[in-house]
Amino acid sequence: MHASRNMGQKYKLWIIFLHLLIITCSSGSRGRELVGSGTENKILEAISDENHPTLHTEHEHEHVHSHMDPSVMVFFTFKDLKVGKTMEVYFPKRDPATSPKLWPREEADSLPFSLNQLPNLLKVFSFSPNSPQAKAMEDTLRECESKPIKGEEKFCATSLESMLDFTQTILGFTHDLQVLTTSHLTKSSVTFQNYTLENIVEIPASKMVACHTMPYPYTVFYCHSQESENKIYRVGLGGENGDRVEAMVVCHMDTSQWGHSHVSFQVLKVEPGTTSVCHFFPADNLILVQKLQQHSLATM
Ligand SMILES: *[C@@H]1O[C@H](CO)[C@@H](O)[C@H](O)[C@H]1NC(C)=O
Repeated sequence: MHASRNMGQKYKLWIIFLHLLIITCSSGSRGRELVGSGTENKILEAISDENHPTLHTEHEHEHVHSHMDPSVMVFFTFKDLKVGKTMEVYFPKRDPATSPKLWPREEADSLPFSLNQLPNLLKVFSFSPNSPQAKAMEDTLRECESKPIKGEEKFCATSLESMLDFTQTILGFTHDLQVLTTSHLTKSSVTFQNYTLENIVEIPASKMVACHTMPYPYTVFYCHSQESENKIYRVGLGGENGDRVEAMVVCHMDTSQWGHSHVSFQVLKVEPGTTSVCHFFPADNLILVQKLQQHSLATM
């Protein structure tokens, strides 16, 4: 009985593993061959896109977007989470077929992942120290090594295995895991437009791990979990051009521990800690939660 339960858990983890593999490795595993010519462009895209810096939120960000880059248009306050509300949202359209692939743990672990190794890493990837790619790697490593804020646990995962290990330390080892992602139901190249909120479903979860992709020559997820109250929603969006998105949204109900310069406060023009902050997840970010049993749903 106990043994078969365990088997069940293992099986479910394996399913999640495969799911993640599909998300992150959708055009086959090419491992290190990525380090070739294409990589440079991809990191450059990642930088020029500026679609990464906003979403691992909760930390001090140096970027102050005085001209309001559209890529920061993912934030809104809880009171705007209403069916019928229209707002401008930016969704990066990163093509999974051309983005860097996740490495297996053995490969990821064969390279150091630390800021003090940056000079060596730049040699490995053939980036000159003054290049934008070097700056992106430095920023990512610095962010990964920054201290968590109060009540937060964080981890930069360089492989699927390490991501699942971290997730289990937060959500527990024996629970059913569920992976939630934003999906684009229509294909278009429009990244920034007005969307109307068409339906809103709360996903009940007492704890969550959110994982955000970071600019790096291979796939790195910045994963974190916070003690303070968060709410998770799946929101159906209708774009002005007819695009349809099933978007994941996380609302942070308490932002009092966030850095003053956090980009969301500038976008929303509010004082830190005075309001909830919700944000949309781009399609290549993940939310991991325990799947609630049917009976606990019923009693909510
Ligand atoms: C969204 O709609 C408003 C009001 O109609 C308009 O001013 C704004 O330019 C639109 N935004 C985009 C990105 O199209």
